[in-house]
Amino acid sequence: MTSEPDLTDLSPEDRAALGSGADFWTTKAIGPVASVTMTDGPHGVRRQPGATDHLGLAASLPATCFPPAVGLAQSWDTELVRRVGEALGREARTLGVDVLLGPGVNIKRDPRGGRNFEYYSEDPLLTGWLGAAWVTGLQGTGVGASLKHFAANNAEHDRMRASSDIDPRPLREIYLRAFAHIVRTARPWTVMCSYNRINGVHAAQNRWLLTDVLRGEWGFDGTVVSDWGAVADRPASVTAGLDLEMPGGSGVSDAQVVAAMAEGTLDPADVDRAARNVARLAARVVAGRELGDALDNADEHHRLAREIAARCVVLLRNDRDLLPLAPGRSLAVIGEFAVEPRYQGGGSSHVTPTRLDVPLDEIRALSDGGTVSYSRGFTTSDTEADSDALRAEAVAAAEDADVAVLFLGLAATQESEGFDREHLELPAEQLNLLDAVVRAQPDTVVVLSHGGVVRLAPVAAPAILDGGLLGQAGGGALADVLFGVVNPSGRLAETVPVRLQDTPAYSNFPGENSHVRYGEGLYVGYRWYDSRDMDVTYPFGHGLSYTTFEYADLALAADAAGIAVRVLVTNTGSRAGREVVQVYTAVPGSSVTRPVRELKGVAVTAELEPGASEEVSILLARDDLAYWETRVGRWVVEGGSYQVWAGASSRDLRLTGQVDLAGDELRIPITAESTLGEALADPTAAAVLSEVFGGMSESMSDATALGVDMMRMIASLPLNRLTGFGVDPGKLDALLTAADD
Ligand code: BGC
Repeated sequence: MTSEPDLTDLSPEDRAALGSGADFWTTKAIGPVASVTMTDGPHGVRRQPGATDHLGLAASLPATCFPPAVGLAQSWDTELVRRVGEALGREARTLGVDVLLGPGVNIKRDPRGGRNFEYYSEDPLLTGWLGAAWVTGLQGTGVGASLKHFAANNAEHDRMRASSDIDPRPLREIYLRAFAHIVRTARPWTVMCSYNRINGVHAAQNRWLLTDVLRGEWGFDGTVVSDWGAVADRPASVTAGLDLEMPGGSGVSDAQVVAAMAEGTLDPADVDRAARNVARLAARVVAGRELGDALDNADEHHRLAREIAARCVVLLRNDRDLLPLAPGRSLAVIGEFAVEPRYQGGGSSHVTPTRLDVPLDEIRALSDGGTVSYSRGFTTSDTEADSDALRAEAVAAAEDADVAVLFLGLAATQESEGFDREHLELPAEQLNLLDAVVRAQPDTVVVLSHGGVVRLAPVAAPAILDGGLLGQAGGGALADVLFGVVNPSGRLAETVPVRLQDTPAYSNFPGENSHVRYGEGLYVGYRWYDSRDMDVTYPFGHGLSYTTFEYADLALAADAAGIAVRVLVTNTGSRAGREVVQVYTAVPGSSVTRPVRELKGVAVTAELEPGASEEVSILLARDDLAYWETRVGRWVVEGGSYQVWAGASSRDLRLTGQVDLAGDELRIPITAESTLGEALADPTAAAVLSEVFGGMSESMSDATALGVDMMRMIASLPLNRLTGFGVDPGKLDALLTAADD
């Protein structure tokens, strides 16, 4: 338990001053409250010794660049992510940082989103499990997390003003779900409110979000900090639940807070609350500083970054078992990214790596005597390069070698925080090169680097490794996977669609006039493609291995905790490897609209030797099975028979079974607008109905007497229209009063 500073002696001015930063990265030391140092985040520590900014421009001290969220999520492995959080905590401590600004847990609503590389997935539960593991790992070292960007910050276009206009169910089930899970289970010290508006109200001024939901419903006991520059009206923000405005230094908004208190437009109790929450953060930080000493861990963390990155690589395709590369084969390595790797995204999360693995060097180091040539093949720079000559040189090298390894991807200039992409295409020059190389060398392996999804329908190579962004040791990790030192077990955390026009938010992105209508509702990512049975290039959860796995003996049992799933996984191939077992559910005949199936559980096996088996146990938590019931404004677990699938992707479902689950009690209030059918379905109202209207309810529920269609027609009649058909208004009132009991 940390003891919190006593603020009794602080003046109103001091209390107001605690609620904004001292400068770009620190808070003020006032009275008993210590100053706190924050910095980005999330995949490395961006500690700026001199000039400061939130765009990743000024220099920062070297720190290990772990895989950004786009890569890390592909591990699907909470234990691995927890270890990354822990390593980041150790580095933060070494660099004198108390709060690391991450994790970013917004949903990848549209593949064009400029910050998708900083986010985990299109699925809220996967995002929540991974984000919670990251926070737990980090905070275990005594360094605080800042869960961001709260909330519904899913595009860069007009990001300081745009309103994410979202219906209640998708808002809860898709966009807030990961935040809720992480707040409840990992208890981050801070939550960062986003730049955008939500249903018209700025996140920083959104009392419903920052107070009613975050603190009231989820029990958040930490500090709400603004994104850098998100506050337009500090008194309004303090009233809504904001504790700390960042950055700070001018004192202007402190004076506004003092003036608003004097004018009576800002309740001093809200200013006190904010000051106390900032003081609580400072107390946590001071206690956390006791937990560890500064260490020089650069070598150890580089090794860790390589181990982690290798676990994030997805083998999308491997025709003719082209991979892993057989020892001694001659290789033609092609592509600029083989010598100038693309390994992190642009903007505030950009860190200065302690070192950088060059893929070509790492491939040479593992090539075991086979010759390795290199040709650039294309260039991403603006310099006038002769692309025909570059291509011809690469094609000749590919022809001369046993295998071509072609690095393709997006350059840093093509995607970043601050803007969204307009398309999903790889540059035409790269696709032309690919065609020419594959024609010259059928044994071509493509290695992809990119922060956002790229269209892969035109990438017709027999083997494809997808790294996303892998951090500073990605080069070594890719070499490990290419040569089979590591058997790939990464899985896509987002779908690769056939074309942009197929994507769920296609016609609602990025919105207009500062409003973005989330018209696709719940149907985000695979929920959309799978429900519509659309072709995709690679489905959510997809990833191959150099071995094969068999699933058997699915066992399901429901109890108060949820649904316990057991499945036996056996390595049926000839190499050791890990399997990522995914569990999806559906509720056949559900009373509410639902995607055709949804991810509800996951487990990563240990590395299984050939022939070895593991019985995997996965609990589908009851909370995760609930849907948001808009008619009563709460989470409800629907009772009934649940269909459960265990599989290797949302489209590679290996086993299925059904299990009965007891539902939550749900009584929809009967009002004058309720229909006769709804009243008849409600036991209390139905009983009153028959009493009030004589035998009417019996005859109406007798579908055979009336004929089904007639029954349907009458059942849709709202109660308050019955008076038009001669029912006594007094009787109707009696019904409504009685049904209310
Ligand atoms: C970003 C945040 C970041 C902050 C500080 C903002 O522009 O949205 O993610 O933590 O700057 O650099």
